[in-house]
Amino acid sequence: MAGRLSRLVLNLRRNLPPGTALDRYLQRFAKVAGWLGAELDLLAALYGTDKFGEHDYTPVYEELMRASRRKPVRLLEVGVGGYEGALGGESLRMWESYFRHGHITGIDVFDKTALSRGRVQVFQCSQVDRPKLTSLAQEQGPFDFILDDGSHLNAHQIETFGILWPHVKDGGTYIVEDVQTSYWPAYGGGPLGTPGYELSCMQWFKQLVDSVNLPEFLAPAPGRLDAGISSIAFHHNLIVVKKDLAARYSNMQLDDPELRRTLMRADG
Ligand SMILES: C[S@@+](CC[C@H](N)C(=O)[O-])C[C@H]1O[C@@H](n2cnc3c(N)ncnc32)[C@H](O)[C@@H]1O
Repeated sequence: MAGRLSRLVLNLRRNLPPGTALDRYLQRFAKVAGWLGAELDLLAALYGTDKFGEHDYTPVYEELMRASRRKPVRLLEVGVGGYEGALGGESLRMWESYFRHGHITGIDVFDKTALSRGRVQVFQCSQVDRPKLTSLAQEQGPFDFILDDGSHLNAHQIETFGILWPHVKDGGTYIVEDVQTSYWPAYGGGPLGTPGYELSCMQWFKQLVDSVNLPEFLAPAPGRLDAGISSIAFHHNLIVVKKDLAARYSNMQLDDPELRRTLMRADG
């Protein structure tokens, strides 16, 4: 039923410019729907963010976020949206409505600060301005959820993760959207097997994935790996990284020199 309603709203919204009477009506309805506990698919369709329909991110987010819905979460989204003079903020309104007690922070390279109100705070900042972003994150965080829906440039996706990951709470989640740009030279990626792909966001996070097995290493780990990463999931155009600072241990006594020698032998 809710799925059918979300699709119906998507159809209504097709080619609907922001600011029209129907747009305003759908946004008003969204507020009520949020209070009544509507799922993210419907809220995304009503508010007009492309996180549902054009992309299928909200079903993944519903799974990730449902348990936190009533909690006073802190969420940061990079990239506020809004084209052709429109202020944007569709996804910020969706988060505000979904997390009734949440504190929502948005940042954008353009000035969207007029969208700030109540539990939603918007700042003008580039996602790769390390000093400003760090100071904002210190002030507004630490965060339960961080989403990168900014420039989608591969170098930015990687650099922003480096700046913001320390500001994810223990138990929190970091999400990179639209990682299809990993395959597109215009965004600093490239087709598989090309030098562009080697520098891509997908490739970078694939190399980070060994972090989840750090306690099993017999040799020192390369600096990029992070013991706080408990999982990395790859979805269609989406990367989801979870943080868990509890120490993990190997089930083997890897500090035993005899065992280490045995495991290091290529012939078993
Ligand atoms: C896809 S839109 C965000 C849509 C919005 N999150 C939503 O779902 O409704 C991308 C936004 O990222 C912003 N952006 C582009 N480059 C940026 C950068 N270097 N730092 C921060 N924001 C940037 C753009 O101005 C644009 O508003």
